[in-house]
Amino acid sequence: MKKMLDMISEEMQTAFEAAGYGEAQAGSRLGRVTVSNRPDLCEYQCNGAMAGAKKFKKAPIMIANEVAEKLRGSKVFSQAEAVAPGFLNLKLSEEFLRDYLREMRRAEKFGLEEPAKPRKIVIDYGGANVAKPLHVGHLRSAVIGESIKRICRYAGHEVIGDAHLGDWGLQMGLVIMGLKERQPDLVYFDDSYVGEYPAEPPFTLADLGEIYPEASKKSKEDPEYKAQAMEATYKMQNGARGYRALWKHIMNVSLPDLKKIYGSLNVEFDLWKGESDVHDLIPEMVQDMKDGGYAYISEGALVVDVKEETDTKEVPPCMILKSDGASLYNTSDLATILERMRLYHPDQIIYLTDKRQDLYFDQVFRCARKTKLVEPETELKWIGFGTVNGKDGKPFKTRDGGVMRLETLIQDTKEEMLRKIKEGREMSEEEAAAVADIVAISALLYGDLSNQASKDYIFDMDRFTSFEGDTGPYILYTIVRIKSILAKYVQQGGSLDDEELVLQAATGQAQKQMMMQLAGFNAMMESASEETAPHRVCAFIYDLANAFNHFYHETQILSEEDESQKKSLIALLILTRDVLETCIHVLGFEAPEKM
Ligand code: ARG
Repeated sequence: MKKMLDMISEEMQTAFEAAGYGEAQAGSRLGRVTVSNRPDLCEYQCNGAMAGAKKFKKAPIMIANEVAEKLRGSKVFSQAEAVAPGFLNLKLSEEFLRDYLREMRRAEKFGLEEPAKPRKIVIDYGGANVAKPLHVGHLRSAVIGESIKRICRYAGHEVIGDAHLGDWGLQMGLVIMGLKERQPDLVYFDDSYVGEYPAEPPFTLADLGEIYPEASKKSKEDPEYKAQAMEATYKMQNGARGYRALWKHIMNVSLPDLKKIYGSLNVEFDLWKGESDVHDLIPEMVQDMKDGGYAYISEGALVVDVKEETDTKEVPPCMILKSDGASLYNTSDLATILERMRLYHPDQIIYLTDKRQDLYFDQVFRCARKTKLVEPETELKWIGFGTVNGKDGKPFKTRDGGVMRLETLIQDTKEEMLRKIKEGREMSEEEAAAVADIVAISALLYGDLSNQASKDYIFDMDRFTSFEGDTGPYILYTIVRIKSILAKYVQQGGSLDDEELVLQAATGQAQKQMMMQLAGFNAMMESASEETAPHRVCAFIYDLANAFNHFYHETQILSEEDESQKKSLIALLILTRDVLETCIHVLGFEAPEKM
């Protein structure tokens, strides 16, 4: 379906053409219409007469008047008024708007068109480190990545989400060292052992939760210990049997827990691949880089130069192997690109990390292009997000200044939400808890996604969990309100069958505002997908929820006496509910039945 603003602009352009100010004469299209910046005066406006004045050596108001004349009897505008010094103030025809929404109700995806060229996209997000607890820094990558995945998928692209686990680094060596200290007699540490290793892990998830932090702390204090952990990591990476068996145990114990936490945030990966998956690709990648003449030895390390003539800041070479032959964070990112090209051949790979990794991704992308890991047209896109801060403006911490674990943050939000839900509501303890869990996730996700990703934001528990204002709970509250009106309508014998509900033209300004807002859905979703910008979806549903609540306060819905008018209002409610639910679904949360 054409976007409404485009249809309006076309109507306007036709009037400019008819008045003799067409594209051929003006050298550009003057008929572009925008949403009014003076909603008290008009709904839409066109400034084309101002833009054309110079070219036609005419006062803008004269042009505007002539164009307005041509719009008399327009089926699109109920009013087109030329005002000094030359603006065209516009009001939309109620019938045109009604027809647009009627078509929108019938259309696939509410009139969002399929992309001209659907892309295959891999999204690399989450980035959890196995055996280490997820912390608040991992929230944004997961939540924004998940939403971008859902938005692009809804828009008609093929999207593969990959967790890209950190499962091959020093933390694995640290856990192995920590375990060795606790249980030195385990067969995994016996180099002469040739038998099968036990299927049962020699530790629990709770043990793991202690072993890693202890070993990590020790390695920071004791360089000798750290060297041993690095050695253990190296041995594990290079195939020491016992260490590989321990690695498997660590994965088996840690992954279900990671899956559970991501699951509670509605984050679903298609692939749970990690750095370990590409380990075996590294030698051939390195060989190709050498053969191609890209990689060379500098101070013992293998590097690829990635600086470019136009650089204004220094871009250091990309290090592929350290002087001891060990691979780096870089190396696995590059090998992962190689693997993704082989397995999925994506048109685009999108990465979500903290914005401090900008130079890093610059290097990696340049290196991937230079060494031809990707094709010239493969798009590599990095989205750097800002920090989650506390009310003091500093990175969010626990009360005693420690790193905030993601699980704790989720739990705290659920508790706060439960407290608010129980306030003034008659609900069983069980039901309240179930509702609080759902609403809390909306608070967390919306609190994050409503900000432009690159900006830092303040985690404000009280504001995020409020039922009023620009929050997830407010959006859910609005949806639940609509659902309860519809339920009452059914109770009173009404039918929600589409065939019976015919949408009529708006009868008041609040209703019209809401209808105009709904009509912007396809344009909004298209730009949210093109710009990979979930905050656009949030802004849209916030405006829509406000428009609905305003309309709701002014309108008698269930007590409307005119039957066809009542059915029309119900049709509008259904459309609003469906659009809101589609939007929250792409943001990654759902609405409860009651709240
Ligand atoms: N595991 C890393 C961390 O926790 C994040 C990985 C980001 N993704 C990537 N492809 N490098 O810091």
